[in-house]
Amino acid sequence: MNLRSLADAIKTKKLKQAIDWNGALPSHIAIMMDGNGRWAARRGLPRSAGHYAGMQTMRETIRNCLHANVKYLTLYAFSTENWKRPAEEVDYIINLVHQFVTGNTIREINDSNIRIRFIGDISRFSDSTQQVMKNAAAVTGANTGMTVNFAMNYGGRSEIIHALKSVIDDGKEDLTPDEFETYLYTSGCPSPQLVIRTSGEKRLSGFLLWQCAQAELWFTDEMWPSFSELLLYRAIYDYQCRRRGFGS
Ligand code: FPP
Repeated sequence: MNLRSLADAIKTKKLKQAIDWNGALPSHIAIMMDGNGRWAARRGLPRSAGHYAGMQTMRETIRNCLHANVKYLTLYAFSTENWKRPAEEVDYIINLVHQFVTGNTIREINDSNIRIRFIGDISRFSDSTQQVMKNAAAVTGANTGMTVNFAMNYGGRSEIIHALKSVIDDGKEDLTPDEFETYLYTSGCPSPQLVIRTSGEKRLSGFLLWQCAQAELWFTDEMWPSFSELLLYRAIYDYQCRRRGFGS
């Protein structure tokens, strides 16, 4: 272990002790995994290396959230805008999804009692991609430890229009916000209380526009592949400090 990792391990341990595990904790965290390309460019690597490293970080973060008793985790993996990227890069990301939801990783996810869902308009993906997504959701569908939503071909405005069309199809003329939520891709999940965005960008970029109405926003300059257990705990600790301040 080098000096930096040792210092981080000590800070992580202290933060874990500082968090009130019986107090307000976010049961749903949403993460905008941003900065894979920049992480790679800074190391003189192709963008694909950044996405690959980002997938490893995603796997660790899922594990860290499970240990932190987070019940729902939503990860922004592919936006409706991402189709504008070179086909080669899009194919590489989709191939990572295939790797993730087949083989050892999905087995590990299933053994950890994690349920996987894909939110967004997945009909734009090829039949085989849709099939592996549906299969991963079906295989893990009965798990109760934590739910991980992968937002794929997701855009918040499109989600609201999609929900609205279903409301109209159902002939509803009057409905409450709670009823409207049942038409969203995230139906059944509570709204996220904490949104994390990496890479120094401070925008929502259409992520969970309806669901984030009351969410705390937390930003870090670190690029997604460098996101760590330490940063996750820092975000949870800051969330708790902000909540403690409420009304007092
Ligand atoms: C943002 O960084 C990252 C993405 C667009 C892709 C993220 C995808 C994964 C980590 C793998 C997905 C896998 C599954 C199973 C869902 P960027 O490319 O926008 O970085 P930049 O802003 O530095 O260019």
